[in-house]
Formats: sequence, C-alpha cells, structure tokens
Amino acid sequence: MDSSPRGGPWKGLFRGRGKASSPMIVFRGVRKSFGSIPVLRGVDLEVSPGETLTVLGRSGTGKSVLVSMLVGLERPDEGSICIGGVEVSRFKREEDWYPLRMKIGFLFQGSALYDSMTVLENVAFPLIHRGDLSREDVLSLVRRRLRQVELDESVEEKYPSELSGGMQRRVALARTLMLSPKILIYDEPTAGLDPITSDGIGQLIRHIQRRSRATSVVVTHDVRLAARVSNRVAVLEEGRVIQVGPLAELVRSDHAGVRAFFRRSGGRGETRGPLRV
Ligand SMILES: Nc1ncnc2c1ncn2[C@@H]1O[C@H](COP(=O)(O)OP(=O)(O)O)[C@@H](O)[C@H]1O
Ligand SMILES: [Mg+2]
Repeated sequence: MDSSPRGGPWKGLFRGRGKASSPMIVFRGVRKSFGSIPVLRGVDLEVSPGETLTVLGRSGTGKSVLVSMLVGLERPDEGSICIGGVEVSRFKREEDWYPLRMKIGFLFQGSALYDSMTVLENVAFPLIHRGDLSREDVLSLVRRRLRQVELDESVEEKYPSELSGGMQRRVALARTLMLSPKILIYDEPTAGLDPITSDGIGQLIRHIQRRSRATSVVVTHDVRLAARVSNRVAVLEEGRVIQVGPLAELVRSDHAGVRAFFRRSGGRGETRGPLRV
C-alpha cells in the first residue's frame, strides 16, 4: 500500500476536492458504548474547512471518545465519520489511517509528553521517520515551532518535569504542529491550568488558527476558552449534540439542556469571570 500522504486514494485530499463548502469533518449518527454503558447515542456534527468548532460538555460526556475517533483510536459501533470526504469509519486496517494521521495534529488531554525525553526530543519526535533530515535541519524546525508557541531555546535541553504546566502544554502544542497539520484537535487544552495561563494558551490557539487556517476541533468544559477560540460551539449532553451555533447564540438558548450546561459551568466558576461573547 502506498502510505504517502500524496499517493493513492489520498491524492488531492484537502486540496480542492469537492465543493469549497463541503465539510471537512462529518459525524453521522455516531454511537459508542463501553460494555452496557452507552456513551455516544447518535452524534451528528459537521466541521467546515478552516473553521474552529468547540465541543463543550461536562466531564465524562464522551468528548475525548468522540475526538479519538478522528485518529482511529476509538471506532464507532454505529454511524459514519468522514474526513476530507473519506469515510474513515469503514477503515478495516490500522495502516489505512497512516496517511491521514500525518495530516492531523492531536493535542492530547494533559500534554502526554515523554518524561524521559528532553523538550527538543519531544518536539522532534514526529520527524523520527524522516531519515532524510540532518541534525541541523531538525534543530531549525524544532526552534521554529518553539518560537511559534512563544518558548525560547533555553527550554530545549530541559525535561518536561522541569517545566510549568503552561510550558508543558506549549511544548506539546509545538510537537502537535511539527508536521504542519491541516486538521488540529485540542483535547482539553487548558485543563488543570490556572486562569491566567489558560488565557495565554487560548490566545496562542487563536493565533495558530489564524496563521495555519487549519480546520480545528477544540474539546473543553471551559466556556471562557470556547469564547476565545471558536467560530461555532456544539454542546454535547447525554451522548448527543444538543445544539450547535455561535457561542453568543448558545448562551441565550431556550434549550433546557444548553441552559443547564451554562448554568452549571457558571456555578462551578469555569467561565472564570464575566463572559463576553
Ligand atoms: N476505553 C474505555 N473503556 C471503558 N469506558 C470508557 C473508555 N473510554 C471512555 N470510557 C467512558 O466513557 C465516558 C466518556 O469518557 P470521555 O470521553 O473520556 O469523557 P470526557 O472527555 O467528556 O470527559 C466515561 O464514562 C468513561 O469512563
Ligand atoms: Mg476528556
């Protein structure tokens, strides 16, 4: 099989195939249970090219399960998922995912840096299969990404445990950006960070979206982050997307579930201060 991202059935993917308005990501009737416990009960969702869509929902509602399906870490029991017009939910073999994964950057919940590797090694990791690059080339690519996340060279030889939570998140983001992904997925990018650090990460994400024009999915329960980065917001509740739209519309929604979500978030202080949308 041709695993080149430019070869085989992937030829032309992400570049002008289909109509300009075709969604980049489509979930249709996606269901997933673990044992007898249903987590996703029929998720329908579309993400347009270049859009930043935020999935908002309480902890344990299945946000991570949902986005894990975009890189093949989880499979739906029922329903379909299309990425760039390709129905990935039909993939049978692990190798089917390889070309697509080169195009998708996934910022995992909690950074997921390799503890025994330095910052330099962590950020360079996605290049490991690129045997054609010299050490100088790798270093210059890593430094470019570190600058993009507003870190300087002084962090290169440090280990993740020597960095603050916010800096770890930035290093993880630099690693995610290494292969210039066309789709970016951020799973709880501000979880566990203090409000000021969270705001910095939110600003950075916004900056990256503007520069890269990647199609982005942000998963969070942090309404303030959603306000900063999203074009549209989808509220996930009881295994379904109960409403989608600009955040300014959703906070004024009549939908009981949506209202309950915002009431609870406000009540737990997750909006961290006045919400202006
Ligand atoms: N591999 C798994 N096996 C069993 N249960 C799981 C697995 N992954 C997730 N779950 C369950 O699915 C639910 C949704 O999890 P998750 O997607 O991580 O929630 P969220 O990201 O919204 O906090 C949780 O109840 C979790 O325990
Ligand atoms: Mg999660």
